[in-house]
Amino acid sequence: MNRQDQISLLKRLLHYVDTQTTALADAPWRNDVSVYTDPQHATREQQVLFRRHPLLMGFASDWAAPGAYRTDDYAGLPILIVRGRDGKLRAFLNVCRHRGAKVAQGCGKARVFVCPYHAWTYDLAGQVMGIPDERCFPGVRPERSSLTALPLCEKHGLVWVIPTPAEDGTTDFDIDAWLGGLGPELAWFGFGSWSFYDKRVIPETMNWKILVDTFHEGYHIGFLHRDSLKEVLHGNVADFEHFGLNHRLVMPRKKLERLKAEPEESWDLMWNTTLIYSLFPNTLLIVQGDHVELARVFPSEGRVDRAVMDLSLYVPKAPATEEERVHWDKNMQLVLDVVTGEDFPAGRSIQIGLTSGAQTHLIYGRNEPAMIHYHQSLRATLGLEPPVKPVRSQASRVEPEGQPAGL
Ligand code: FES
Ligand SMILES: [Fe+2]
Repeated sequence: MNRQDQISLLKRLLHYVDTQTTALADAPWRNDVSVYTDPQHATREQQVLFRRHPLLMGFASDWAAPGAYRTDDYAGLPILIVRGRDGKLRAFLNVCRHRGAKVAQGCGKARVFVCPYHAWTYDLAGQVMGIPDERCFPGVRPERSSLTALPLCEKHGLVWVIPTPAEDGTTDFDIDAWLGGLGPELAWFGFGSWSFYDKRVIPETMNWKILVDTFHEGYHIGFLHRDSLKEVLHGNVADFEHFGLNHRLVMPRKKLERLKAEPEESWDLMWNTTLIYSLFPNTLLIVQGDHVELARVFPSEGRVDRAVMDLSLYVPKAPATEEERVHWDKNMQLVLDVVTGEDFPAGRSIQIGLTSGAQTHLIYGRNEPAMIHYHQSLRATLGLEPPVKPVRSQASRVEPEGQPAGL
């Protein structure tokens, strides 16, 4: 984000705080409860969102050197991502071409992959290298010369995979076609050189979208987080901008008002806000001043009311001292306390409430434009009616005078 855009954004936030307003959608919007409760809907989401759409797999620095690999089964099929000797990052289905066992386990650094079952071996580019007792497989090698490749894009310091092999065998794609113009802004952070610090895998008993929704509005901060985030963040105040199916929500920290006494040249966006990038369909990149939280959310167990969050903390550079480690540990604990101690218990109760039959629709208010945009984007992608009515953002951020947003 260029300097002028940062200053403009901070000015908008100061205006919201001063006037007790926030970014607003044109009107409240009703969503079908069934999108959170219907198993058939969940099946359709799995087929479309988690098979045909690019999914963010991590920071490019997770695969820093040749041989660095990670396996990832969250999308409901086994994926292997590995950086080759040529420096190129590749994705494969982690499925042995003999009888289907996983050829790589967990994550780490490899020179080759050896299937644990009968020891077929694969190089870092996925090519079959060795078949024990190959005389018993006459003519097989040309037909099964490599692992099945998936399309992968490494760009803006991040890595995406489309979890379905391309019909024409293509292994590359350009994520910019999916980012709606957000690419340069993501690139600005230089995530490719950031360092992974810690992660937690959090299974939950609610629909996966409720975990995502947690990060799509600040309306609840003053209430659900009255003993935690309310001290730090303004509640019910946020700037909202959408980029195609994706969006950015920016919440002002309480210390933002201090900027008024400082020259604009010294204003710092990251230190005075929490920036939440929602990368469609299931990823949140949360910029928290000096670090970033990456939350990837998936449906799990084939159930509409089961989900898992893969939550990672990234820092600008690997910690060199105990003091730095203590600082990052505290930040990890803070996000876990808030998310698992406050947001997710509320989410579980929402799942129970939505399943109860109390109502056929739920409502997102005008002060929840990111919720509306996200769920309209989901419906559009899934081909559901009613047709999407776009949320106006830039032009309608602020309520007309005399109509406070009702903080
Ligand atoms: S399943 Fe991999 S070598 Fe047999
Ligand atoms: Fe929350």
